[in-house]
Amino acid sequence: MPTYQITGAIPLCGQVPIGGAKNAALPILAASVLCADQSRLHCCPNISDVSNALKILKSLGCKVQLREDCVVVDTYPANRCEIAPNLMATMRAAVIFLGALLARFGEARITQPGGCPLGERPIDLHLLGLRHMGYRCEYEGNVLCCKEEALRGCTIALPFPSVGATENILLAALRCDQEIVLCNAAREPEIADLICYLKKCGAQISGANTSVLRIRGGRRLHGATHTVMPDRMEAATYLCAAAITRGSVELLSAQPRHLTAVLESLKKAGCCVRVSEDRIWLSCKHLHSCGSIRTAPYDAFPTDAQAPMMAAMATGEGSTVFEENIFSDRFRHVPALRSFGADIYAADRYAVVKGVGRLHAANVAATDLRGGAAMVLAALNAEGTSSISNIAHIQRGYESFVQKLSSLGAQIKITE
Ligand code: EPZ
Repeated sequence: MPTYQITGAIPLCGQVPIGGAKNAALPILAASVLCADQSRLHCCPNISDVSNALKILKSLGCKVQLREDCVVVDTYPANRCEIAPNLMATMRAAVIFLGALLARFGEARITQPGGCPLGERPIDLHLLGLRHMGYRCEYEGNVLCCKEEALRGCTIALPFPSVGATENILLAALRCDQEIVLCNAAREPEIADLICYLKKCGAQISGANTSVLRIRGGRRLHGATHTVMPDRMEAATYLCAAAITRGSVELLSAQPRHLTAVLESLKKAGCCVRVSEDRIWLSCKHLHSCGSIRTAPYDAFPTDAQAPMMAAMATGEGSTVFEENIFSDRFRHVPALRSFGADIYAADRYAVVKGVGRLHAANVAATDLRGGAAMVLAALNAEGTSSISNIAHIQRGYESFVQKLSSLGAQIKITE
């Protein structure tokens, strides 16, 4: 089983390019089904989740081409509206194909999506929106069958600004030729990137970056060329890597305006941070507690940066309280961090982290994407050589992880 071997206690220094955002590329690849045309995506990250999204597109009859600098998708030949359970099970983002298939064909059949085990991850809010606009959604066994009945203009109010529900409702609404208003929509930057792509395809959508989206569909869309936004979670991970190793990094093609809460917390923890339009510099000599971290919808502290930040705080001076308000079970990385010597007590949605300075080597198994990344960060701080197995979790979301960390001076390799 492929395993990372990491020899730590080396400060990371240097420049690292930030790739395209996983959580923008995936919904955009799903949305390309609506265009029945060719689209070209630049900065589409070379990660296993994207490979699985391309497998889903091919299973629907689409043509996919991986070029040097872009991914070309031709969805004109798409002729199926059902996704195989094994493909649905690969990732949470597979569920976003539901809205895309409904918009293209007026019907879709999917099974429960996969994804990181972060607690309950229902799709009731997705279905609330689809049913409200006039799709019939019923389970036949474990298959969710959705079909257009009588689409109508309406206003949908989400009880919680769910990212996936916002994306699915946005896509499915594009089949309706009357205006659909989505209130309490998620405002994550990845949704604005999806809207940017859809507007290039000719879609009529207003309200990007706000919590009220107005969609007027019923128009034929065409393909587009789009450059995927930088991955703010990849950026947050490398910033925490520099902090936990007391190093100094420069992130290239990052977008600091997408990371204000994370940058504020790192500055509070003693890091020196400097930004320009598309670069972030961080250096860290001494790390201490940033006080507390409360995860919440954008633009508060993002839940996907909670685990990497927790690893960093485990090595600073003082105590930090984490409050995880997005997922019901997102402290699965805590036992592994304690194996490295971290002093963490977690109960329900709270974790208290007492900084211990230097960690020691350990052999652990990744539990999920961001938790696995947090274990890599802990190993980079630790004296000695650590191993991290189940790295497939990590490879889902971090392109060229070993190469990028090695270029910053890390001693990391993959062993079978
Ligand atoms: C997206 O997941 C991201 N994934 C997640 O990133 C991210 O953590 C999350 O948004 C929050 O920002 C992708 O974009 C592929 P949600 P999603 O719907 O859409 C509950 C990563 O590490 N909920 O906003 O699944 C849900 O259970 C991943 O890259 C319902 O109750 O997130 C959760 O507690 C992890 N019913 C909360 O809302 C629903 O119908 C947030 O979920 C939908 C969600």
